[in-house]
Amino acid sequence: MKVAVLGAAGGIGQALSLLLKTQLPAGSDLALYDVAPVVPGVAVDLSHIPTAVNVTGHGKEELEQALSGADIVLIPAGVPRKPGMDRSDLFNINAGIVKNLIEGVADHCPKACVGVITNPVNTTVAIAAETLKQKGVYDKNKLFGVTTLDVIRAETFVAELKDLDPANVHVPVIGGHSGTTILPLLSQVEGVSFSDEEVEKLTHRIQNAGTEVVEAKAGGGSATLSMGQAAARFCLSLVAAMQGENVVEYTYVQTDDSDDAAFFSHPVRLGANGVEEILSYGELSSFEQKAKNEMLEGLRGDIKIGVEFVNK
Ligand code: NAD
Ligand code: LMR
Repeated sequence: MKVAVLGAAGGIGQALSLLLKTQLPAGSDLALYDVAPVVPGVAVDLSHIPTAVNVTGHGKEELEQALSGADIVLIPAGVPRKPGMDRSDLFNINAGIVKNLIEGVADHCPKACVGVITNPVNTTVAIAAETLKQKGVYDKNKLFGVTTLDVIRAETFVAELKDLDPANVHVPVIGGHSGTTILPLLSQVEGVSFSDEEVEKLTHRIQNAGTEVVEAKAGGGSATLSMGQAAARFCLSLVAAMQGENVVEYTYVQTDDSDDAAFFSHPVRLGANGVEEILSYGELSSFEQKAKNEMLEGLRGDIKIGVEFVNK
C-alpha cells in the first residue's frame, strides 16, 4: 500500500502524516509532497518513529516521485480560512492548486483513490472530477471529498450533550462541506432522542464547527489536528476496505441522483476499487427534509463553479 499526502508540510498534512506513519499496515509506503522546503525534514522527522512504514519526502519538483505507484492520494494542499472568511473565499487560490495536483495524479497514478480535503470541498471535488475527465482517466468510484470531520464533530457534540462515550455514538452527516450544506441526521442517531430545540442548536453547531475553530485560532488557520484525525480515519477505512474488510464511511461522492446534487455525501460501502456501493441515507425527519431542500440550490451552485473553472 502506498499513500501520498500532497500538502504534507502543512497543519493538516503533518498531523495526518504522523497518524499514518503510526497506523498504516506494516510494509506500507508513505510519500510526503509539499512546495514548502521543509518537507524533506518532516519526512526525516517521521522516519525516526519505529514503525514498519517507509516515509519519503518530496519537494516542489518531485511530484512524480511522490505519486508514482500510489494507491491512495490525500490532498490537504492549499490555504486555510481566517476569521470573517467563508470557505468559498479560498476558491481563487485553492482551485488552481487542486487542478495542478490532480493533473499530476492523472499523469502518474491514474488508478489511485483520491481524497480531496482542500476547501471549498463542495467545489474542489468537482474541479478534480472535471480535470480527470479532461485527462481521460476519471473514475467516479475513486474520487472522494473528505467530509469525515463533520461526522466526528457531530459524534463528539452529541456525546457531550447526552453524556455518552463518543466511541459508541454514530451520527450520519450528508450533503456537502460548508455551512447549511452540512446536514447531520440527528433523527437517525440510535438510542438517543432530542427535543426540537436541541436538534436546532446541535445542527447549527455542527454546521458552524469549522468557524468555531477558525475564530478560536484568531487568524492562525483552521482545524488541523481534528482534520488530521478525520482524514486518517478515512484513509485507514479505505485501506481496510482495499484489503477486503466491510467498511462504510460518509463521504462526498458523485451520486448521479438528480434529486439531490451531482456530488453529495452519502454512506458509502468502500471496497478494493474505491466506492463499492452508494447506500441510501434513509428517511429524513421533516426538519432535515426542509434543511435539505433549502441547501440544495447552494450546493449545486458550488459544484457548477468547479465544473466551469475547468471547462472555461
Ligand atoms: P496549511 O497552510 O497549514 O498547509 C497547507 C500546505 O499546503 C502548506 O504546507 C503549503 O506549502 C502546501 N501547499 C500549497 N500549495 C501547494 C501545492 N501546489 N502543492 C503542494 N503543497 C502545497 O493549511 P491547513 O490548515 O493544512 O489546511 C489546508 C486546506 O485544508 C485548506 O484549504 C483548509 O481550508 C482545508 N481544510 C479542509 C477540511 C475538511 O474538512 N475537508 C478541514 C480543515 C481544513
Ligand atoms: C473545517 O470544517 O474545519 C474546515 O472546512 C476548515 C474551515 O475553513 O472551516
